Amino acid sequence: MARGRFITFEGGEGTGKSTQVARLVDRLRAGGREVIRTREPGGSHGGEAIRELVVRGSADRWSARTELLLMFAARSDHLERTILPALEAGHWVVCDRFADSSRAYQGLAGGAETAFVEALDRHVVGRNQPDLTLVFDLPTEVGLERALARAQEDTRFESKGIAFHQALRQAFQAIVETHPERCRLIDATGSVDEVEARVWAAVETLAP
Ligand code: TMP
Repeated sequence: MARGRFITFEGGEGTGKSTQVARLVDRLRAGGREVIRTREPGGSHGGEAIRELVVRGSADRWSARTELLLMFAARSDHLERTILPALEAGHWVVCDRFADSSRAYQGLAGGAETAFVEALDRHVVGRNQPDLTLVFDLPTEVGLERALARAQEDTRFESKGIAFHQALRQAFQAIVETHPERCRLIDATGSVDEVEARVWAAVETLAP
């Protein structure tokens, strides 16, 4: 049984990522693939329990370092219980956010040291890196406006202010430059169909 492919979607708030995750999953399934759609933080019982701790409450509820540990604890459970069993069974896994969100939110924009982030990544993710990471890029004000318009309860990260979100956009752009073999920057402006075409062009480059 050939191992499945692991695709992650990344980017700031309100970039339209989740809509595109749904479109890609539908398209892959229509092509006959077995696909698991999942998300972080979350994607397993333990991961979803930790999600409750990190997406609610005041913006300063956790320090960047503590938040980073919570994210990687959630990720460890998610990998063990959901992602790795699926890949080993030959299924494709499409995940809404993964370790690059920790690099950007807690690391580059949040202030946790890069060496700490990368040490956790080596221990928790190790060789199980995504085959492809699509990083959605959109002017900060546009994304934040969309995110705030739909936000109801899970507003901890949306409430961090425009400077944080500008730093996030730059952080994601820097991550793409640092990992060119794995990451593609996706222009998230334009219609849903236009963005879908850009996503598909990137996914098609993955070997069957
Ligand atoms: P979502 O709104 O895309 O579901 O993600 C929940 C929030 O969690 C989002 O604001 C980004 C944040 N997040 C981090 O800060 N670090 C991480 O490692 C992950 C996976 C998400």
